[in-house]
Amino acid sequence: MTDKNTEQQIEAWRQRSEASLDKWLPSEDINPAQLHQAMRYSVLNGGKRIRPVLVYAAGYAVTADEVALDAPASAVEFIHAYSLIHDDLPAMDDDDLRRGKPTCHKAFTEAQAILAGDALQSLAFHTIAHGLPNNIPAEKKLDILDALAIASGSRGMAGGQAIDLAAVGKSLNIAELEDMHVHKTGALIRASVKMGALCQPNIDNTQLKMLDHFAKCIGLAFQIQDDILDVTSDTETLGKTQGADIALNKPTYPALLGLDGAREMAAELHKEAHESLDIFAEKAEPLRWLADYIVKRNY
Ligand code: IPE
Ligand code: IPE
Ligand code: MG
Ligand code: MG
Ligand code: MG
Repeated sequence: MTDKNTEQQIEAWRQRSEASLDKWLPSEDINPAQLHQAMRYSVLNGGKRIRPVLVYAAGYAVTADEVALDAPASAVEFIHAYSLIHDDLPAMDDDDLRRGKPTCHKAFTEAQAILAGDALQSLAFHTIAHGLPNNIPAEKKLDILDALAIASGSRGMAGGQAIDLAAVGKSLNIAELEDMHVHKTGALIRASVKMGALCQPNIDNTQLKMLDHFAKCIGLAFQIQDDILDVTSDTETLGKTQGADIALNKPTYPALLGLDGAREMAAELHKEAHESLDIFAEKAEPLRWLADYIVKRNY
């Protein structure tokens, strides 16, 4: 790592992703202006940018060209922002607050929120198709595009959301709960790491497998921590309504295992994630930092 320490490097990548997101989003005065305003409102409103930073950190671990990482980093955040807009709709979690501000459908209308989500999903794939540099071979570009497509769809995030909605008020066992979390949240986190890794066209299979196992562990740990924070944090810190899971009778890790059980599970996954990074030595420092952050974060 050059002369920057790991935390400064993470912050530099976060800022780099902010600039790239802004660049890809159509400006607010382009027709249809209200739709573009809703898209920009929902993306450029202070998310933690964990997924884009994971793209950069995974690419760094395998010495990918940093310029190549900009498009997949923005693309996964566009999919994430779309998933949050739709997650907050009355038909889903019916939330009023997101990232400390009114949710998209509250600030605009339900129809605009649905369309903003739709349009962000398309923008994600456009960003990859047009943003990857030409030194990435065409078939690798397709692999990157497909990694995000699969992770977003019915066998990924959207599928996980369907399982979540079908599970409301039901008691899931631990395997069913894991299946739900691995899809609704884990899939995009896994795709972030995979896309970063695939930006190194010479990556070998062992590296790819180790990174994928790392991502699977932190993806699940991420949603477990999200469930824990829903119980233990407060609305102001979270920027979203605390206690929303309990109010909606959602199956969560704290509900099934208790808070201590959920924390133990997150800690085990965190340990397993670290073990998957051994072969990358110091090149994986940013990924280790992110694994720590995911289980320690308070919002
Ligand atoms: C929240 O994701 C939704 C989940 C998948 C748990 P984040 O906690 O990454 O939300 P932002 O992007 O920082 O707002
Ligand atoms: C959302 O999970 C996952 C996706 C948006 C795909 P949650 O419903 O737990 O997310 P929050 O707590 O509203 O951010
Ligand atoms: Mg939800
Ligand atoms: Mg929600
Ligand atoms: Mg939640």
